[in-house]
Amino acid sequence: MSDSALKSIKISELKPGMYVHQILEQSGKVQIKSKGRVTKKAIVDSLKRRGVKRLIIDVSKQFVPDEDNIEEAADDTARSTPSSEPEKEVGNAVSFTQELLRAERIHKRGKAIQKQLLNAVKKGLPFDNKIPREFSQNLVSSIDRNPDALVCLTKIREKDDYLLEHSLNVAILLANFGRFLEMSDQEVEDLAYAGFLHDIGKIRIPDSILHKPGRLTDMEMNVMKDHVYYGVNVLEEMNIASHLVQAVSEHHERLDGYGYPNGSRGDEISRAGRMLAVVDMYDALTADRCYKAGMPSQKALQILLGETPNKLDAELVQLFIKCMGIYPVGSLVKLSNERLAMVTEQTDSTTAPKVKVFYSLRGNHFLEPKDIDLNSTTTVKIDKPVMASDYKINFNAFFEKSIAV
Ligand SMILES: [Fe+2]
Repeated sequence: MSDSALKSIKISELKPGMYVHQILEQSGKVQIKSKGRVTKKAIVDSLKRRGVKRLIIDVSKQFVPDEDNIEEAADDTARSTPSSEPEKEVGNAVSFTQELLRAERIHKRGKAIQKQLLNAVKKGLPFDNKIPREFSQNLVSSIDRNPDALVCLTKIREKDDYLLEHSLNVAILLANFGRFLEMSDQEVEDLAYAGFLHDIGKIRIPDSILHKPGRLTDMEMNVMKDHVYYGVNVLEEMNIASHLVQAVSEHHERLDGYGYPNGSRGDEISRAGRMLAVVDMYDALTADRCYKAGMPSQKALQILLGETPNKLDAELVQLFIKCMGIYPVGSLVKLSNERLAMVTEQTDSTTAPKVKVFYSLRGNHFLEPKDIDLNSTTTVKIDKPVMASDYKINFNAFFEKSIAV
């Protein structure tokens, strides 16, 4: 935080959405020292009653109340569940917000395990396969409680963590896809496990090729292709079940026989291998890399469609698009009222999901995050899908600070 973000104001100027950095002047005996955001008018009134006269606010942490939407909000509240209402549990299922914190911990742990696993493979050290196996089970449990939380986190990426995040994301998206296809518990767990391990062989590829920005030469590509071979060797050493090793070995095979390493074709490629191929390509296309921004989900899904029926399984790609939705959870959209929002949940309408509004394009500032069910309102609709990079917004930092807490 820079000092220029700090501003001294009178208590009469304090409004909901502002962030109090320090109390400057105060009468009375009760000294108030805590920092924090003023979430409602009642807090302003309470500070007044307790004798606060002047304070310092941090403008960089300020939310601007979305006044244009006050009428809309009242309208939405009448029709949808207000976020302040206690969240209900149905069976093991919980709400998006309830699962998000747990999902964040699982996501962080997944990256840490992936890192340990890659380090061990790089040094040729043994690794207890119980750790990734149990992790995959925890991942599936989170998907079962609320799939949107972990799926949403696949959109929050660190450019330099591609290798760690890609395998974790593929595991999450595959488990979600497996559940969507109503596969058995064992099959879904296996998918998550295979996804988590599928690119493990990449750690044996020289960094100059693995992290090369842009296109690889034919020779470099041949070296890169060996990651499948290395991965399969590692998994066999780890005594991973043979059907999972097979799925991993097939993630770059293509139905027309022009994939690698074996040039398998059609029915020679298992269903799990085909699913892995679809999800692997989707995540690679949408990922932010150190040398390029990822593409919006819609464009990536279109590219997958273009790869059918010759390369990818047409039926599986169609089902994957249905599973992800036109506006996948975690993706960003521009609304018709010049605001940016993150998709948080699918609804019955594929074009009108539930979203969290967080940014005003008119004022170029963050707003206090607000949930809107676009399927229950006629006043706002999605204008187009966007990327945070289009608006030079550090959405990751905002997400961690304001949405995930
Ligand atoms: Fe791969």
